[in-house]
Amino acid sequence: MRKPSSPASVPQHVAIVMDGNGRWARKRFMPRLAGHRQGVESLKRCVRACAARGIRVLTVFAFSSENWNRPEDEVSGLMELLGKALAREVPQLHADGVQLHFVGSRSGLSDGVRQGLDEAERTTQGNQRLILNVCFNYGGRWDIAQAAAALAECGEPITEASLSGAMALHHVPDPDLVIRTGGEFRISNFLLWQSAYSEFHFSDALWPDFDEAALDGAIADFASRERRFGQTSEQVQQDGEC
Ligand code: FPP
Repeated sequence: MRKPSSPASVPQHVAIVMDGNGRWARKRFMPRLAGHRQGVESLKRCVRACAARGIRVLTVFAFSSENWNRPEDEVSGLMELLGKALAREVPQLHADGVQLHFVGSRSGLSDGVRQGLDEAERTTQGNQRLILNVCFNYGGRWDIAQAAAALAECGEPITEASLSGAMALHHVPDPDLVIRTGGEFRISNFLLWQSAYSEFHFSDALWPDFDEAALDGAIADFASRERRFGQTSEQVQQDGEC
């Protein structure tokens, strides 16, 4: 269990629900996929900005377990976008010291996409500047269920610690700050287990418009919060004085 602390000014782990690509495109009379393409550009800008601000882990929701229910051409477009983005962006991400992880079920993905994900992870595994977790074919309920199933299969007891260790994000600490863009106030099956004590920031900006200033606004909002982790405000303030 994390100890309560006075607010650190910069969160170590930021997680983002990148919502609003479709509306961004529609406002410009463009197909939804053009919004997702712009979303990739926004993600690149965000990765650079997070690294520059000393954030150590960035986790983004790129494709949920439920996104398979979208129109077929949007699903295939997102798969193609991922494949192309990997081919184009991994060399630069590698040069920038970014360690990539694709978090989610690999079932249902084509062999080509699966190979692309494996190769990107292999190439960047030694990098230390920023860990970028891309949640793809991911759902928080899927993660809890797969962790419980893995423990049950090995006959291990199911505890908070053993479940945490079997989760898809076991290689990073829980997110300090969860951001959702696009003006909605929901968690949408993202990091259900890991966000138990995260601070939340909701932004009206559509994801392609979420720029450095918007990120700085979210970080400032985070820095103003008192994280109590179940304790009282007085206890937290006393701990901070020691
Ligand atoms: C939600 O916006 C966004 C997604 C379902 C996809 C997010 C993907 C990216 C930002 C690009 C990165 C992707 C890959 C493949 C690396 P929405 O479509 O629900 O927008 P809306 O709420 O305005 O319709």
